[in-house]
Amino acid sequence: MDRRMFLSSSAVATGLPIDLTHASRRTAWDLPMPPAHDDPGLPYPAEEPGRLLLDRGWRFHLGDVPMPEVKGHQASYENAKAGAAHGAAALTFDDSDWREVDLPHDWAIEAPVDRGANIAQGYRRRDTGWYRRTIRLDPALQGKFLEIDFGAIATHATIWFNGTIVDRNWSGYNGVQVDVTPYARFGDELNTIAIRVDANPMEGWWYEGAGIYRHVWLAVREPVHIITDGVHCDPRRAADGSWSVPVAVELGNIATAPRRVSVEARLGDSEGKLPVRPVSTTVEVRPLVAATAQFAIPVVSPRLWSPDSPALYTLHVTVRDGDRLLDERRINIGFRWFRFDSRTGFHLNGKPLKIKGTCNHQDHAGVGTAIPDALWDWRVRRLKALGSNAIRMSHNAPPVELLDACDRHGLLVMNENRQFNPSPDYMAQLEWLVRRDRNRPSVFMWSVFNEEPMQGSPQGYEMVRRMAAAVKALDDSRPVTAAMNDGMFTRSNVSHAVDVVGFNYQIAQYDKYHTAFPDKPLTSSEDTSAFSTRGEWATDKARNIVTSYDDEGAPWGATHAAAWKAIAERRFLAGGFVWTGFDYHGEPTPFEWPSTSSFFGIMDICGFPKLAFHQHRAQWIDGEPVLALQPHWNWPGKEGQPIRVVALTNAERVVLLLNGKRAGEAVVDRLDMPEFQIPYAPGKLEAIGYRGAREVARTHIETTGTPVALRITADRRVMLGDGEDAQPFTIDAIDRAGRHVPTANFPLRFSIDGGAIIGLGNGNPNDHDPEKGNARKLFNGLAQVIVRATPGRGKLTLHATTQGLKPAVLTIDRIAAAPRKQVANTRPEMLLSFWARAPFGIARPDPLGQIGSEDRYATARGRSGRLEGPSDAGAWNAYRMEFTPQKRVQQRGGVIVFTEIAGRAEIWLDGRRVAEKADFSPGALEVPLAASEQSRKLAVLVEAEPGKPSGFAKLVTVRERDTTAPSER
Ligand code: GAL
Repeated sequence: MDRRMFLSSSAVATGLPIDLTHASRRTAWDLPMPPAHDDPGLPYPAEEPGRLLLDRGWRFHLGDVPMPEVKGHQASYENAKAGAAHGAAALTFDDSDWREVDLPHDWAIEAPVDRGANIAQGYRRRDTGWYRRTIRLDPALQGKFLEIDFGAIATHATIWFNGTIVDRNWSGYNGVQVDVTPYARFGDELNTIAIRVDANPMEGWWYEGAGIYRHVWLAVREPVHIITDGVHCDPRRAADGSWSVPVAVELGNIATAPRRVSVEARLGDSEGKLPVRPVSTTVEVRPLVAATAQFAIPVVSPRLWSPDSPALYTLHVTVRDGDRLLDERRINIGFRWFRFDSRTGFHLNGKPLKIKGTCNHQDHAGVGTAIPDALWDWRVRRLKALGSNAIRMSHNAPPVELLDACDRHGLLVMNENRQFNPSPDYMAQLEWLVRRDRNRPSVFMWSVFNEEPMQGSPQGYEMVRRMAAAVKALDDSRPVTAAMNDGMFTRSNVSHAVDVVGFNYQIAQYDKYHTAFPDKPLTSSEDTSAFSTRGEWATDKARNIVTSYDDEGAPWGATHAAAWKAIAERRFLAGGFVWTGFDYHGEPTPFEWPSTSSFFGIMDICGFPKLAFHQHRAQWIDGEPVLALQPHWNWPGKEGQPIRVVALTNAERVVLLLNGKRAGEAVVDRLDMPEFQIPYAPGKLEAIGYRGAREVARTHIETTGTPVALRITADRRVMLGDGEDAQPFTIDAIDRAGRHVPTANFPLRFSIDGGAIIGLGNGNPNDHDPEKGNARKLFNGLAQVIVRATPGRGKLTLHATTQGLKPAVLTIDRIAAAPRKQVANTRPEMLLSFWARAPFGIARPDPLGQIGSEDRYATARGRSGRLEGPSDAGAWNAYRMEFTPQKRVQQRGGVIVFTEIAGRAEIWLDGRRVAEKADFSPGALEVPLAASEQSRKLAVLVEAEPGKPSGFAKLVTVRERDTTAPSER
């Protein structure tokens, strides 16, 4: 059956008949999550010290805001001009009633699931949304290079800065850098970013989220500066074993004259020691032309980076003009070398290393795709706990925070491009990815596609050839691969255009391909796709439940056991990537509604372990004993009946004792974990693992009593009070003896002090309770609350309650931590900037005259902040405009502030004279504005002092009546 037929029939792959019973678990620590530790949290990498986060204070509107129709000569003429955007993109647009949000933000996860929405997206509506942000730039920044860097926006984004379109980006996965220097305004003349996000277009068949779901940064750099991703410093090992770091630094110059600068790089390790002397060079940077400084740093005997020992060094690059520091970057690098051998597989640092990888998407329970940095770190630690050494971020560019964690904790990354398309727009996305990530020790392969229908055709071959060449031009050190699921034996196919061939679900072709192309390195790029529901031990199609006994592989995939066996037994195969490490929203195969998230994970969507977690640990971890029993040992009513028990272990032999009596024994085949049928009797089922005659591990599962209390377990006992730190808490129920009850399923409520609940989950793909809020059910013993700590030092206390059980309270410390620098929050303010202006004349103009005519040349333009004249034609001048005050001013009334008028002036509002300035010398004027929803007609007659310029020397603003502070909040 092919995949589409399978999915449409919504059937479950037939597996072994399953007993409805069984049990297992560990010793002293019985919660299936690790105990809390004292590590305070993330070291945020400070690659570019001058960069500011632009995460706070965005205004958000769900749904489109249609652009007003443009009609008439004058309006059409003006519409086509830079800076003249209309509607919600306009500078003056009133967003005061939009919701204020902080980034990262995924609006799709905020709404309930909806049966009418697309199953692939987890039955979540995506829709269109708008974001706006006002920024005040200090006048001291004038002349600096200013760039806004969006981590990613899902999905089609149009970005305006001060009313000019500065980018259109058609992928939800690549970063967008916008040089806003030319349009920037300084001081009280505020800047406006407006972004229309159309999240309806899909790039995937999984949950993709919606909105600005990664960080946004404002880079403020000197006129001569290092451009974004402009340092290439990937260490190289020569054939004789010596190391060097070739450094290339790309510089830009926005000044009007060329500048010669010196560029220096120093290498340091995590202790700050400098094992090598700094190296430097000088380079001339011409205005608006990029220049590159290049040199190499020889390095003797560096510590090597590997998944087991991820040694990082920091390369500190500085750019100086004489003694003056112009720019700097601190880039983490690692020394490692590797090769793919078509006969002996993958080798890292001279030793064979089987790739034990997982594929993953980029969402998590509760938060969707808006994942806090600390949660990325946590997810990587969960994958490391699994014994894996590699990750494939399928099928798109990952966030840098994930890659930082992979560098730090030691996880090799198959870095994948989203769109298979060598045309310019898409090639730019691929090149952006390579430039961004090519210094990372974790990144070891570039994947240009996943399962593309053209893979077996000459067209596919030609497309990959071009994409591979583009990658090589930027990075010649890592192989290019592509994840193929067909077409590998046709005469012209993409396998001939890549360095390492990736196979998705091709167990049957491994040997055949290797025999046909013995010189071509081969890896599984994706395998398994087995179904399981955490904590369930019998498949029930009617209830959309699949057993966790690793019985059910997709028709195109295999069970965990079969997929790994096929890889482990073939030396020539570099390794594999299990689909998937974590469950994810969307693609709820093999079911449809009410299932909304996937069943493929080794862990569920919260990172709680399924049986497969223990299975992979037993197969992937060699350095320490692994022994787990599955399922649990709570089977009331099954007394005397056989329970299917699996021992997941890397020991050589395992012995089972039931209530102290020998109940089974098996020699362990790590590719086929030992199973037992143990007649159920309440009590304790113990497992002892042996190597030879030596006991190496012992564990047990135990029958618990009914739940009497709730328990909360943190990942970390301390959090940073930096306003960003977040972590998941595990909630479970315990019996009178304090033991985890794996069968508990009931509703919970939460409250928090010293933090905010940002998401909830429990790993049940069929549970439609909101993932936001403060209520969620325990699912087979577990629930997760993701919490962000309040800024500052103090405590964070989480409470969990349920009816009839003792509530749980957990208090942890928030330690003082400086927040990362954020762009200050600025209140949007209405500026009256552009005026229709009558030509100078000798007679006082009619204050009641109409604005312009349809002849655009009849009326001159006036601007707040710019003086006019003097003119021989006369001293009188009139400025007119029509405006609609912002909603709060409409409701409460406000004031028009003329910061500085040069000349005498009369102010006429809606046909009435409301204020006068009798003096010629420059001065301020304020005009009260009564509450009203009407659009207002403003006319200002200005009489210039003879021989002097006149008009609005400074800004004209409309403020709320009770506002005294200018713009900073
Ligand atoms: C693969 C595909 C993945 C996912 C998986 C589910 O073919 O590459 O994205 O859909 O199937 O089994």
